[in-house]
Amino acid sequence: MIRRNRIMRVSPAIRAMVAETILRPSDFIAPLFVTEGENVQEEISSMPGYFRYSLDLTIREAKELWSLGIKSVLLFVKAPDSVKDNKGTEAVNPNGLMQRAIRGIKDAVPDMVVMTDVALDPYSSYGHDGIVDGIEIVNDPTVEVLARMSLSHAQAGADFVAPSDMMDGRILAIRNILEQNGFDKTGIMAYSAKYASCFYGPFRDALDSAPGFGDKKTYQMDYANSREAIKETLMDIEEGADIVMVKPAMAYLDIMRIIKDRTTVPVSAYHVSGEYAMIKAAAANGWLDENKAILESMTSIKRAGADLIATYFAKDAVRLLNA
Ligand code: PBG
Repeated sequence: MIRRNRIMRVSPAIRAMVAETILRPSDFIAPLFVTEGENVQEEISSMPGYFRYSLDLTIREAKELWSLGIKSVLLFVKAPDSVKDNKGTEAVNPNGLMQRAIRGIKDAVPDMVVMTDVALDPYSSYGHDGIVDGIEIVNDPTVEVLARMSLSHAQAGADFVAPSDMMDGRILAIRNILEQNGFDKTGIMAYSAKYASCFYGPFRDALDSAPGFGDKKTYQMDYANSREAIKETLMDIEEGADIVMVKPAMAYLDIMRIIKDRTTVPVSAYHVSGEYAMIKAAAANGWLDENKAILESMTSIKRAGADLIATYFAKDAVRLLNA
């Protein structure tokens, strides 16, 4: 028998007919970095082409994302040093920048799905995701604050809270506090398999949130492990997570595939700051075609099982899809 596999690759039309993985604008979650002030637009030095915006410009950006067909934003705030402490005081401030940003975006683009980062690092004088005691990042007191932080985001109008801290038991605590306060339509997107990764470096520049001592290896996962990702993810789902996440993306596509096969909730991937920076740097040197690298990367993440992709390339990807 003669079998000619290349028949299915003869022309763009045939290739389009048999393509298994098709990106859509609604696959993407656009992360946004919000900073205080008005008409402020600051390029992040290690993330060329990506900006911190004041709330007015963040709202303008959200409108543009919506017009492109992107349905979701994931909010991060850069808190001034003056409000940072070791208790997460500012994280639960009803008039904090995060809470104002949620209200502002929901007012301007009511149908946009607003997701919020829940972790203490932007508010921590130590740059850690939790409360610090000596050299330890203490679990249970942190979970208590993360739950109150989630409630305050829900009260401001967030559609999903996205705990990125990797403390134990936080999904259940968040689900409970939301239920007890009548927020039975607020979702939880859990960063379930979040690895201690060097690829978060540029993000920490964006928020000025690098840990002041040590690293995050006592709470984020060891990249040597994959079975642990299953344990973490299944527990988050049991505790009430609506969407689970694998993070970073490109070096963890094996994890994505395992999690997709072992779960029945939507799975998101986070194509993180360092992954963005690598493509940008190579493209700036003329070593890679940026547009092709974006589409190939995003398609590979979806092919590995991601239903949703948080990425700093969201807008670029959608523009390329529409081109
Ligand atoms: C904070 C948080 C981080 C990222 C998302 N939420 C940084 C970290 O854990 O140190 C990383 C995102 C990126 O690198 O794009 N908990």
